[in-house]
Amino acid sequence: MYVRTVAAAAAVLGITLSALAGPASATPPPLRTGGPKAGPAAAPHAGPKAPPLAGLLGLPVVYAHRGASAYAPENTLASIDLAAQLGMDWVENDVQRTKDGVLVVIHDDTLKRTTDVQKVFPKRSPWRVKDFTAAEIARLDAGSWFRPEFAGARIPTLREYLDRVQLNQGRLLLEVKKPELYPGIEREILDLLDSRGWLDARHVASRLVVQSFSADSVALVHRMRPDVVTAFLGAPPEEDLERYAAFSDRINPWFREINAEWVARVHALRGPHGKAMEVDTWIVDDPDTTQRVVEMGVDGIISNRPDLVRRTVYGY
Ligand code: G3P
Ligand code: CA
Repeated sequence: MYVRTVAAAAAVLGITLSALAGPASATPPPLRTGGPKAGPAAAPHAGPKAPPLAGLLGLPVVYAHRGASAYAPENTLASIDLAAQLGMDWVENDVQRTKDGVLVVIHDDTLKRTTDVQKVFPKRSPWRVKDFTAAEIARLDAGSWFRPEFAGARIPTLREYLDRVQLNQGRLLLEVKKPELYPGIEREILDLLDSRGWLDARHVASRLVVQSFSADSVALVHRMRPDVVTAFLGAPPEEDLERYAAFSDRINPWFREINAEWVARVHALRGPHGKAMEVDTWIVDDPDTTQRVVEMGVDGIISNRPDLVRRTVYGY
């Protein structure tokens, strides 16, 4: 009931603001893809961006998990272009490092599942990201495993990825993935973010969040750049939450591990920037779960099907 009411209000607000913004805001950007054969066929529900005043209604922000990863190969430029075309502001990614020190965007710590590495480098088992150079990784096809029309998509470097999100006028939820495998990666990520314009006041205020399952990594990012918004991935017990509030603005849990009471406990704490801590939950890909987590009071929903979640929450 609550979701239906706020969705109706948001839909009216969205339509009103779209009309005020004029025709340009209703025109989706052209699809740019990470591979020569990638195309827009998988975009089922293109739509406008969420109304900018949605926060006033207490509606959760929607994040495209690994890009629009239900419709395009995860963590590729195709997946973030598609997210932008679907009208999604925020994309989530996973950052790791190659053998020669290049930051790349990939979820698994091996290349097996999402590339043709076993065919291209058959003798390099177990095909760990950290055992391959950037030049070797650039040879891999990161699209065919998903669907043939994405053949030729590549694993992007973080630099390429940041520039593309910028071009799409998007915002980034950046995950430091398995930092224990990559000593010093936090400093390197921050340096790259800085060099690509992602640590200026505008980005730090509202366009970037850095998260990790490693509390040490989140705390380190906070120490090195206290102005950056941070999030710890997980669902710590209530009695431990205060400890995280020292370095983390948000606690981002799996939706199955939380309830309304836990969310309220997080909200009652103030993070390192003096604001109430927030909760962005993952991975929510269906209307019923969306409704459940909205009723729990979460601030953000991270989804492989962000268009579906937006439709459920915002009504369009
Ligand atoms: O953003 C939350 C989510 O990405 C955490 O899980 O395994 O997809 O990185 P995973
Ligand atoms: Ca992730």
